[in-house]
Amino acid sequence: MSTYSIAKVPGDGTGPEVVAEAVKVLDVAGRVHGFEIEYDELDLGGERYLRTNETLTGADLQSLGNADAILFGAVGHPQVPPGVLEQDILLRMRRELDQFINLRPVKLHPGVKGPLRDVAPEEVDFVVVRENSEGLYVGQGEFTAKGSPFEVAVQHSVNSRFAVERCIRYAFDLAAGRLRRRLTLCGKTNVLTYAWDLWARVFDEVASEYPHVETNYAHVDATSLWMIEDPGRFDVIVTDNMFGDIITDLAAAIQGGLGIASGGNINPNGVSMFEPIGGTAPGFEGTGQINPLAAIGAAGMMLRILGEAAGADAVDTAVGEVAGSLPSLRAGEMGISTSEVGDWVASLVAEPEKARARA
Ligand code: IPM
Ligand code: MG
Repeated sequence: MSTYSIAKVPGDGTGPEVVAEAVKVLDVAGRVHGFEIEYDELDLGGERYLRTNETLTGADLQSLGNADAILFGAVGHPQVPPGVLEQDILLRMRRELDQFINLRPVKLHPGVKGPLRDVAPEEVDFVVVRENSEGLYVGQGEFTAKGSPFEVAVQHSVNSRFAVERCIRYAFDLAAGRLRRRLTLCGKTNVLTYAWDLWARVFDEVASEYPHVETNYAHVDATSLWMIEDPGRFDVIVTDNMFGDIITDLAAAIQGGLGIASGGNINPNGVSMFEPIGGTAPGFEGTGQINPLAAIGAAGMMLRILGEAAGADAVDTAVGEVAGSLPSLRAGEMGISTSEVGDWVASLVAEPEKARARA
């Protein structure tokens, strides 16, 4: 029996509540599918920062780096200025552990009432591959004449051939293994003529090695329009860090909201981190009303990366079934509590026949 060592980072806000449900489901999946998980819980986030002034220490990074994978809740605290915890914990973890892909599956499960009236569930089934190490997220830039009326702020977008190519290659490999084998490069070649010139050149070069993958290009503004008007055209979308951040929130909306939006920060050769992408939801902390499906879905993604495909399938099926049966996926509108949603998913994972019969 395989045993995995998972670094658990519940974090702030509703993070601990949703991570607890993910752990509940993982435990059941392990019992049914024959694996075991040992957790190493790390205290990262606002409370520790306020107490000790520490965000992410070398020792923390070492623990994270020694894990088989990381299960992450959320960071952000009302008493900590915005950006401190996000930059020093989440973005730093992505960088230090070289999680250079941000992978965000987007699926509208049957029965889920999304905001798009005329769209059938099977039309919303794509994956966004977001470059996760560079672009506008490198934090480079400068002020001149700060505070004066002549002030100028410059924020650089860094796009290295190396990082662009590894991201594009990852997206091609992913697309090649999917049914529709269609890859869209989402950029802004008509305005950002340096960055997207490089992206488009690398994309075309790599495309020649994947003759079976159908490729196309869409500007980021058009991508946003089509995600609403014709999401069925997308299978895999590859884009840079900033555009990927924006379009994945839009994508979360069309799958029913952040309550079901999971993501993976992937280092294909190292330690990956899995998270619900919705953040700390401070208004719902402690109310038992936050939707844990995004965190549970993230745990499912983690199982897939660990090689536990049967367990991952069971979690995905159960998440889809529960999502489609809830009146809404939004926090506060689920009709049942956070832990009841977790119990329900866990029961379907425990008895897969029941889930399949109803699916
Ligand atoms: C996300 C989040 C983060 C990002 C924030 C919290 C720094 O919005 O994971 O999409 O911008 O990457
Ligand atoms: Mg975001």
